[in-house]
Amino acid sequence: MSHTLVTCASADEWREHLSQLREESLTVGFVPTMGALHEGHLSLVRRSLAETDRTVVSVFVNPTQFNDPEDLDSYPRDLEADRRLLEEVGAHFLVVPSEQEIYRDEYRYRVTESEVSRVLEGAQRPGHFDGVMTVVLRLFGIVRPDRAFFGEKDYQQLLLVGGMGEAFGLDVEVVGCPTVREEDGLAMSSRNRLLNVADRWLASEWARLLREGSSAEAVRAGLADRGIEVEYVEDRWGRRLGAVVIGGVRLIDNVPL
Ligand code: PAJ
Repeated sequence: MSHTLVTCASADEWREHLSQLREESLTVGFVPTMGALHEGHLSLVRRSLAETDRTVVSVFVNPTQFNDPEDLDSYPRDLEADRRLLEEVGAHFLVVPSEQEIYRDEYRYRVTESEVSRVLEGAQRPGHFDGVMTVVLRLFGIVRPDRAFFGEKDYQQLLLVGGMGEAFGLDVEVVGCPTVREEDGLAMSSRNRLLNVADRWLASEWARLLREGSSAEAVRAGLADRGIEVEYVEDRWGRRLGAVVIGGVRLIDNVPL
C-alpha cells in the first residue's frame, strides 16, 4: 500500500480530513498513544489497519494521568522516530494535539469511576484513571472513531475505557488487543528503555515470575527474594496483575490465569 502519513499538528487540522472521510463513508480506527512507539503500539495500528478503512494514531503525553511530576518529565519523547515508524507500518493519520486544545477548561471537567479505578493501579496512583478516562473521552470527541484499539498490557485501563464507552453510550467500539512481549517475555513498554543492563535482566525475571508463579503470594515472595520492590501482585478479573519498581522504573504487567 503506498500512501504517505498525514500529520495533523492540531485537532482542527484533523477535523477537515474527518469530514472528507465521512463524505466517502470510510470507517475510522483510532489508536491513542503517548508516543515513544514500539511494537506493542504498532500491533494496535496493524489491527486497526486490518479492521477499518483509515487509521488515526494520536500522540499526546497526557499530564493529568501522571501523579509524579518526575515521571512526566522523564517520559521518553521522540516524535520524529514515531512518525517514521507510523509511516513504515502504513498508518494514515498522526494527530498531535496541543495541551491547550485538550485542556481548554484546565481540567475542570473530568470523568471518574468509583470501583475498578480504585484498586491496584488506581490505589497506587490516585487520580491516574480519572486522567486517562478524561483524556480518552476528549480524544474520542476530536477523532470520532468507529473503533478504538487498546492493549491488554494496561488491563485496568482497557476495562475502564470499555466501561466508560458503555456507561455513556459512546458510539465507539473499544477493542482489546493482546500484549506484545520481548523475546525473554518482558512486556514491551516505553519505560523499558530507561533500564540499565542489570535491571533489564531483573525485569525479565519479573515477567517470568508473574507468568510461572503458582499463586500471587508465590510471585510476591519470588520477587522479594530477588530484591525487587513490589507494589502489588493480585488475581482479579481472571488475570494476575502486578506492578513493581526496578532501578527506579515502574513496570506493570498482567497475564491470564
Ligand atoms: P501508551 O502507554 O502510549 O499506550 C498506548 C496503547 O498501547 C495502550 O492501549 C496500551 O495498552 C498499548 N500498549 C502499550 N504497550 C503494549 C504492549 N506491550 N502490547 C500491546 N499493547 C501495548 O496507554 C496510554 O498510552 C495512555 O494511557 C492513553 C490511553 C494514550 C491515554 O493517555
